Amino acid sequence: MQIAVFSTQPYDRRFLDEANDGVHEITFLEPRLAPETAPLSATADAVCAFVNDDLGAEVIEMLAACGVRVIALRSAGFNHVDLDAAAALGIAVGRVPAYSPHAVAEHTLALILALNRKTHRAYNRVRDGNFALDGLLGFDLYGKTVGVVSTGNIGEVVARICVGFGCRVLAHDPVPKASCCALGVEYVDMGTLLGASDVVTLHCPLTHDTCYLIDEAALAQMKPGAMLINTSRGALIDTRAVIDALKTGRLGSLGLDVYEEEEDLFFRDLSSRIIPDDVFARLLTFPNVLITAHQAFFTEEALTAIAGTTIANITAFERTGEVLHPVHTARG
Ligand code: NAI
Repeated sequence: MQIAVFSTQPYDRRFLDEANDGVHEITFLEPRLAPETAPLSATADAVCAFVNDDLGAEVIEMLAACGVRVIALRSAGFNHVDLDAAAALGIAVGRVPAYSPHAVAEHTLALILALNRKTHRAYNRVRDGNFALDGLLGFDLYGKTVGVVSTGNIGEVVARICVGFGCRVLAHDPVPKASCCALGVEYVDMGTLLGASDVVTLHCPLTHDTCYLIDEAALAQMKPGAMLINTSRGALIDTRAVIDALKTGRLGSLGLDVYEEEEDLFFRDLSSRIIPDDVFARLLTFPNVLITAHQAFFTEEALTAIAGTTIANITAFERTGEVLHPVHTARG
């Protein structure tokens, strides 16, 4: 099949070429998929897209007009796809349901540990010849309570690691898991989790129900001075409400790998430009905020698995008319 790969970075090319091994004809395109760039898929049967590509109804209609029959997402999340539009136009949508939950879970712990022990500040201080410790005081993670919002593939690994640290782990998920209960994880309602946790970490998908899950009201329920971590999707958090909570000291620290308006920022080198997003720029001014640019998935193992499953989805579609890992609408 002819595949148009949008939002290509050098590493995408490397891992997809290896997984493809010459089977499909791949065109690597740097631009993000959007109404202006959709015509670049004019000769493609398949479009391969990433998390910040625009797969709204307008773009999907343009892809259908180009003759595209399948969309292969290089991601687990599919909140950016208008599935109803795809279904109506007979375009199959495949995703990579699980690649390396360890990659995201381990990055989540990296954020928790760095924020707690202020490693990001210590790194700069030591390089500047400042060996004073004042301002770097942390706490033992051992014995603290970590609230894991959603114990899917990633949340379960986070819970397992936190149990290993000697933490008490609370979880909230509409579908509790026996494997987590066996670890000693206690399932509680969201209010109890927010009120009792020293660290709250988000691992649910972005849906209508979870959009702005952490808003002003949720922040008011959190333990004063608690840490909030989001490696899931930016819009789980109302960023303006979080900034207010940071300013009053109500929220102790914030670790983000995702941001609700990240489409115009992440995955690009903007170091010589002015950041036009004032909300994001304000976040960067807090010493107790640590942001990475959607890199939690970024390990050799995860990229190998993502590329392998993406190509397998397309190959299966070519052979059978069905992708291996379909994403359906709520209506089926
Ligand atoms: P998963 O599908 O294995 O688990 C999702 C869990 O969320 C399930 O246990 C489900 O019951 C629960 N859930 C659904 N609705 C909920 C609600 N309203 N409230 C609470 N829990 C709810 O997903 P997985 O693989 O663990 O990934 C989680 C999310 O992590 C993805 O949706 C994606 O947004 C994000 N992600 C971020 C990456 C990054 O690089 N930062 C990479 C991969 C995923």
